[in-house]
Amino acid sequence: MSIAVAQPGGSINGTFTVPGDKSMSHRAVMLASIAIGQSRIRGFLSGEDSLNTLAAFRAMGVEIEYSEAEIIVNGVGLRGLTAAGSELYMGNAGTGMRLIAGLLSAQAFPSKLTGDESLSRRPMERIIGPLRQMGASISGDSSGCPPLSITPVDSLQALDYTLPMASAQVKSCILLAGLYATGETTVTEPAVTRDHTERMLQTFGYPVSLPDAHGKVVLQPAGELIGCDINIPADISSAAFPIVAACITPGAEILIENVGVNPTRTGIIDIMRLMGADIEYVNQRSSGAEPVADIRVRYAPLHGIDIPPDLVPLAIDELPVAFIAASVAQGTTRVTGAEELRVKESDRISSMAAGLQTLGVDATPTPDGMVINGGDIGGGTVDTFFDHRIAMSFCVASLRASDAITINDVQHVETSFPGFFELCSAHGMRVQVR
Ligand code: S3P
Repeated sequence: MSIAVAQPGGSINGTFTVPGDKSMSHRAVMLASIAIGQSRIRGFLSGEDSLNTLAAFRAMGVEIEYSEAEIIVNGVGLRGLTAAGSELYMGNAGTGMRLIAGLLSAQAFPSKLTGDESLSRRPMERIIGPLRQMGASISGDSSGCPPLSITPVDSLQALDYTLPMASAQVKSCILLAGLYATGETTVTEPAVTRDHTERMLQTFGYPVSLPDAHGKVVLQPAGELIGCDINIPADISSAAFPIVAACITPGAEILIENVGVNPTRTGIIDIMRLMGADIEYVNQRSSGAEPVADIRVRYAPLHGIDIPPDLVPLAIDELPVAFIAASVAQGTTRVTGAEELRVKESDRISSMAAGLQTLGVDATPTPDGMVINGGDIGGGTVDTFFDHRIAMSFCVASLRASDAITINDVQHVETSFPGFFELCSAHGMRVQVR
């Protein structure tokens, strides 16, 4: 097990970037693999999660040349994947497993998808149900969790599906199965979720709409994906840690370059601004279908807010670090409508509440969120529950802590943000991993 010790008294300053977007990295490898012809992917996240996805497609016969600078995928077309010959291990990645399950439900060969301890506890009924409605033969274990077993069926039928929860993974799973279905597949989301699948399918030349005003996405059948070049920007979910770090540290000023600022992902920016943060987009531009900017953050005093529920799905992965901001803000912050946090890499409401309480923060978990009365952060030892984002959140907390914070089990940071602790140290934070 790796342990991080974060000392108080650090700061964060300078210009840097963070690794590539994890959601887009998964999708880029998947879509390039089933496209016709060659695709070049730059900015790919060389983290464990997305590398597991890459390995899965190699195992299914796709020729992929990998280097940190560029990945070249020789796509095999929609019908060109071949049986892997062994289980496909998706590691810690809910996105990897749920999206691939959609694709594999339509293949002419059986597959088995497995994951690590955390992924093996995550609910898969949310994709098993709609995929079965499309005619797929897929099952999980007796409690609807991984491993997932998929056996071939003659064909899939299109589905008109309303998501019971705001989940881009479920939406994307159905859309990827819909690529193979007879008829038009539609998915309606109850709240806005990330739309990278739709944007990237369009980049590969596939006929799909972006969500309309009612959250409805329409995917046409019988298209083809055509290989193309994809430039993946830095992951705003990773940038969120230094962003909040600078927001809470008097004297801090940072510029994070080339960050994806797709409006379905920028809830954390909106939340921090509502709390009084000084965050500015510099040099806004496009990287293919995705908006990108450099993000400048300067320290400013924060105050508590009631987080607007419509921002919750747009900041779902950033809420743990938003709780750190709330812990030092003046007044009370309330989060509601965030019950999905309970089924992430850990139960993030419980994990964060436990750690915050250990550090003396007045944090009260609720079934669907948290109430935090801002004040001081003390020192102590916190558990990550093997969750990368819990580990990085408590590292950020050290910037305002009165004593050292020891963070157990930080090894999973590698799934999404390789080099996180080195970057923190290089830019003024006082953290060491042993
Ligand atoms: C993701 C969607 C979200 C998010 C996850 C990545 C994606 O999950 O939490 O980290 O890439 O589609 P849900 O779909 O479960 O909300």
